[in-house]
Order: sequence, then C-alpha cells, then structure tokens
Amino acid sequence: MERKHAAVVTSFAEPPHYREFEVPQPTTDREVLVDVLVVGLHPRVRSGAAGAHYSSTGELPMIPGIDAVAQRSDGKKIYFIADDGAPGTMADKAVVDRRRSIDLPDDVEVAKVAAALNPAMSAWVALRRRVPIRSGQSVLVLGATGNAGTMAVQVAKRLGAGRVVGAGRDSTRLDALASVGADDVVRLAEDDDETARVLSAAAAEVDIVIDYLWGPPAQRAILALLTDRSDRSRPMDWIQIGAMAGPTIELPSIALRSANLRIQGVGQGAVSAEVYLAELPSLVDEIDAGTISVRTNSRPLADVERVWLQADVPGERCVLVPSCAPAPGAHGRFIGPGSG
Ligand SMILES: NC(=O)c1ccc[n+]([C@@H]2O[C@H](COP(=O)([O-])OP(=O)(O)OC[C@H]3O[C@@H](n4cnc5c(N)ncnc54)[C@H](OP(=O)(O)O)[C@@H]3O)[C@@H](O)[C@H]2O)c1
Repeated sequence: MERKHAAVVTSFAEPPHYREFEVPQPTTDREVLVDVLVVGLHPRVRSGAAGAHYSSTGELPMIPGIDAVAQRSDGKKIYFIADDGAPGTMADKAVVDRRRSIDLPDDVEVAKVAAALNPAMSAWVALRRRVPIRSGQSVLVLGATGNAGTMAVQVAKRLGAGRVVGAGRDSTRLDALASVGADDVVRLAEDDDETARVLSAAAAEVDIVIDYLWGPPAQRAILALLTDRSDRSRPMDWIQIGAMAGPTIELPSIALRSANLRIQGVGQGAVSAEVYLAELPSLVDEIDAGTISVRTNSRPLADVERVWLQADVPGERCVLVPSCAPAPGAHGRFIGPGSG
C-alpha cells in the first residue's frame, strides 16, 4: 500500500498533525485518484476538524478539508468538493468523485481558486439560485468584513445589485469595502440602540440580506430593519449562510406576521452539490479575471499544526500546499502571501 502525508485529526481538542496515511484508492469508475495542489483553510474546515460542524460524524482519526485544487494523471487541473463521509482534502493525494469536480483553465492561479471558491460561492449561489437577484435590487451583507462577506459585496455588485450595504465590526475593514463596491457601510457597535438606528437608516429598505453572522447581531438587525421599513408587505429575503456570532436566534412571531420576511439558507443540504457545481465554472472565470478579489497566504501542508494554532489574518485566506505538489510552473500560477 502506498503511503503519503496528510493533516490528521486524532482529537477534536488538538490541531491536526502532519502524518503518513495510507493512500485511498478509487472504488468505482466514477472515482479517480488525484494529486492535491492546494487546499483552503476555511472556517468550515476548522469547525469540521473540531467536530463542531453539523455534518460531523464524530469519527476519528479524520483528514480535514472540504475542497481543493488538484491535478489528474492526465495533467488536467480540477477543483473538487470532497464527498460526504470521504477522507478530507488536506493530503498529498485524494480520491475524487468526478461528478463533484470541474475542470479548470490551464493557466488559472490555483491558490486563488482554492482560497476564493468556498467563500465566494455562498453569495454567488445565494443570488443566482436561492433568491435570483433582479437588476437594481438592494442588498445588505451582515458580516461584510470577513472573506465571504467582502466577496459577497463584490458578487452582489457583479450580479446587478443597485445598492450594497456592508455591516461588520471592524472600522478599518469596513472603510476598505468602498474600494470593492460597497455603497454604504454600517458599524456593528457595542451600543445596540445606536447600531439599530444606523442599520435601519442605511438598510431598512433593502430587498435581500446575506447573513454570515446569525446570533444576536442578526436577531437585533431583523427587528431594527422591519420596524423602520416603509412598506412591510414588500418582501425582505434573508439568506442565512454563516453563524459566526451564534448558532441560534430568538425570533418573535410578529416579525413573520407583520412583515413579508422570508428566511432561507445556503449550505450543504439546502443546495445540492449539482447546483453548486453547475455555478462554479462562471465563478472561476470571475475570480480568475479579478472581478472578485482574494488575498491568499500559501503555507506548506507540512506546517499544518503550526498554521492551525495561528490566528487567521483578517482579509486573507490561508491555503496549504502539499510538499509533493508539482512545481508552480508545471501546473499554473501560484501567488504568494498577500497577493491576489
Ligand atoms: N453555507 C455556505 O455555503 C458557506 C460558504 C462559505 C462560508 N460560510 C460561512 O460563512 C461564515 C464566514 O466565513 P468567512 O470565510 O467569511 O470567514 P472569515 O473570513 O473568518 O470572516 C469571519 C467574519 O465574521 C466576523 N465575526 C465573527 N464573530 C462575530 C461577531 N460575534 N459579531 C460580528 N462579526 C463577527 C469577523 O469579524 P471580526 O473581524 O470583527 O472578528 C469576520 O469578519 C462562516 O461561518 C463560514 O462557515 C458558509
């Protein structure tokens, strides 16, 4: 049996360790063994490796990683989403279900794709499939200072939003949102009343909310926006995508009776893998063209334990590169720390 290296979680209380593992083998003709080129360290990967994601089975040891850019034996570069229940992607090699992969352009920046597709696809799928946005509609992004939120601002503009408001905690990163298309920003401050006032002044009339936070900020925002909305029978589509601020909210029934609030989510289960994959090629084109920008921080997979313990740099997505990945020139462009 061939042995290669992977990030291996042996305890949900510890970071993954860089260990040898037995290379898995395809078991059907739909599957193929690939060389992993680069893997994104997304929040969802961290929660899976901590046994805290809703899809977690609790089984150990496990290899984390939900997606990756890889190279097939015919030299073609692909992006793939790991199959539910299959080993994760933070490994030198992985088995890919062809139906969960897309071919990439030959000269694509592989680190950029690995960093950006997961955060960008949430808003892209939300606004194309969940609540197809109509030209000129207005959008509030709750949690706009994170990677996914910043990309959501750009995605909304690219897909025709007339006005986009970004809300988040960090003033510096909020200010930077203007350069990626935000028309207005709202700081989620500690003073709840003041936050509600500023939020409703900027966003009470929005058509769509893309929510990466949930928890208390979303709970307060729903009530603030609906209270000041001029016509509450006009639909407000709330698309729940992340839960950075908490897993639950308390929603008074009156919020649903006194206004046309429509809440739905985007994530594994709410959207099928087929739908995600159908949307990915056009999103890859946007990322490769730079319409949706991303800052990457490439680190060796062998350093996974150290990388795991370091705090994410705000505005950057860390990606891990297996040591046996072919040299950058052989498989498209890599970009270094902070670029993209
Ligand atoms: N469902 C899907 O398809 C999908 C796809 C991609 C991402 N997601 C989810 O979306 C969320 C964001 O992902 P990401 O890639 O953008 O992560 P990220 O780059 O780490 O950003 C997280 C953001 O959340 C903010 N935040 C954290 N706790 C907060 C709180 N209590 N109140 C207000 N803001 C808070 C952070 O703000 P500060 O900088 O102020 O701390 C930061 O801006 C995650 O939950 C992720 O799992 C879901």
